[in-house]
Amino acid sequence: MVINLKNQHYPTGCKCIDNLLGGGFESQIVNHIYGESGTGKSIITLQCAYKAALKGFTTFYIDTEKAFSATRLKQIAQNNFSKIGKLIFVYAPLNFSQQMKIIQKLEKFITKNVKIIILDTISALYSASFGIDDSKRNYKLSKQLNHQMAELVRLAENYDLAILVNNQVRSRISAEDPQRIVPFNRNILDHWCKVQLFLTFPEKMDMKKREAILTKHYNQQDEKSCSFIISNEGCQ
Ligand SMILES: Nc1ncnc2c1ncn2[C@@H]1O[C@H](COP(=O)(O)OP(=O)(O)OP(=O)(O)O)[C@@H](O)[C@H]1O
Ligand SMILES: [Mg+2]
Repeated sequence: MVINLKNQHYPTGCKCIDNLLGGGFESQIVNHIYGESGTGKSIITLQCAYKAALKGFTTFYIDTEKAFSATRLKQIAQNNFSKIGKLIFVYAPLNFSQQMKIIQKLEKFITKNVKIIILDTISALYSASFGIDDSKRNYKLSKQLNHQMAELVRLAENYDLAILVNNQVRSRISAEDPQRIVPFNRNILDHWCKVQLFLTFPEKMDMKKREAILTKHYNQQDEKSCSFIISNEGCQ
């Protein structure tokens, strides 16, 4: 991997993932983290916010699933919780149009200290608004999603931010397809995200073990993967 020295790297503290990413999630781009429920998307991104906060950096965390866990953050931060808690700002939109408004207004609140924006997850409120037989409505939703991604890319580039977008997955019907698990709104995310990380369970099921696969990186051709463990202290 050729590391872009202009971009900042924000580590997660999970060695496997930080090595795959050449030192952590990168600034100036949108990083896409997708995987099945329980694979560690929220923990990994929360750890990244925590590590950045230890250096005094601020994170905006957009929690669309009402899943932000202060308890989990306390477990990760332990004695540092009071020090870092005030550097992580949580926004909790209730529907997709609120998600849109928050993203459109973020710029007003960005100071020099803000380094990371996390969207956990991009598709939850989109899916909640999706109408099965309502193509007009769905077209509008896709357009809005594209707008949101474009705005996040613009913010990443203009303010040197690392943007981390978590996303759910769906299984494709064709069993022969090697890529049977794909992210929601794959085409839109593929278009806007220069780095994509797929988190999954190992073939031999283990409650603690997970796999990370770097499915896309703007600077490298081959897919790379590694294993990590989720424990009380977070991902290692
Ligand atoms: N305190 C803890 N100690 C050990 N493991 C934990 C703890 N809390 C959560 N986990 C593990 O982490 C997993 C959940 O991680 P996380 O919430 O980051 O997943 P996710 O990919 O964001 O899932 P979802 O898509 O449902 O939001 C759980 O399946 C559990 O195995
Ligand atoms: Mg989650």
